[in-house]
Amino acid sequence: MSIDFSDSALETEAPLVTTSLTRDDEAEGSLRPKTLNEYIGQQKAKGNLEVFIQAAKMRGEPLDHVLLHGPPGLGKTTLSGIIANEMGVHIRITSGPAIEKPGDLAALLTNLNENDILFVDEIHRLNRSVEEILYPAMEDYAIDIIIGKGPAANSIRLDLPKFTLIGATTRAGQLSAPLRDRFGVTLRLELYTPEELAEIVTRSAGILEVPIEPEGAMEIAKRSRGTPRIANRMLRRVRDFAQVKAGGVITEHVADQALTALEVDHLGLDGVDRRMLRSIIQHYGGGPVGLETLAATINEEAVTLEDVYEPYLMQMGFLTRTPRGRCVTRQAYEHLGLPVPGGISGGGLEQISF
Ligand code: ADE
Repeated sequence: MSIDFSDSALETEAPLVTTSLTRDDEAEGSLRPKTLNEYIGQQKAKGNLEVFIQAAKMRGEPLDHVLLHGPPGLGKTTLSGIIANEMGVHIRITSGPAIEKPGDLAALLTNLNENDILFVDEIHRLNRSVEEILYPAMEDYAIDIIIGKGPAANSIRLDLPKFTLIGATTRAGQLSAPLRDRFGVTLRLELYTPEELAEIVTRSAGILEVPIEPEGAMEIAKRSRGTPRIANRMLRRVRDFAQVKAGGVITEHVADQALTALEVDHLGLDGVDRRMLRSIIQHYGGGPVGLETLAATINEEAVTLEDVYEPYLMQMGFLTRTPRGRCVTRQAYEHLGLPVPGGISGGGLEQISF
């Protein structure tokens, strides 16, 4: 029931920008901070958590249920491990799609110890019958089990140990209202700044014992689209280049050469980002175009574009979401080296005829 790190579940040929788990991330365990003090960035979420953890510990109670949401790769699992560590309790890790039947969840819940944490990744993908087991479990620390069938069926209530549910999702909007309302704490994780990522890369390089210059760390940081998982993955690839071609030290020049060879541009955009922007410009006059149409045009999954690519493109000011669809901005034309049509503003297309 826990996340499967066996070979079959891992991508072997990992593109740099995927934010799902890959073989490198198995090794990322060693790079994961274990305490809030070691955890870099997410100041708002961290500050709140510090207070809630301390208060729960002072009262000798489990932490209230926590919902973590935000784009993939920002450290939701890492943060949950830290919460368990700071609370001094065990954590069981599972995911929405892995819990197929109500009985699977009942088995997980009844095996928890007092104050333990149950971490459910992709909680928006729980099916409805499983979700309904969670309501009394979260609210009353109990589950209702139906015994027998038809008119003779009987419901018995089984008490559970007090526990904390940590739910993680990239799509808080897809959570049903009854489930969302049962979380006492909701924390949104934000994309990291280049400075925070440079700090993370420097810390990771220290653990991996790779010499790195501050400019080398910043070059990786600026090109890892606000995401520590991508930054750490890039660090490993740049390390390979440094080792084979540059005497082992990660300098700005080596990082630039390695990432350019891997087709990550100076702002961290990869081939999919560029195809996405180019397609909106060349096929749809700069937009608006619906997400599904765009996804079909460039042969990618709509959810991947929405969860993995759009947050960064929007943060960089290259893409806007409007009620009528996606639009590119003047900056996107400029970044791609394409002529900017008249009538386009920084915020998106205003009145281009097409
Ligand atoms: N490794 C991955 N995410 C991190 C973070 N937020 N702080 C420190 N190291 C990390």
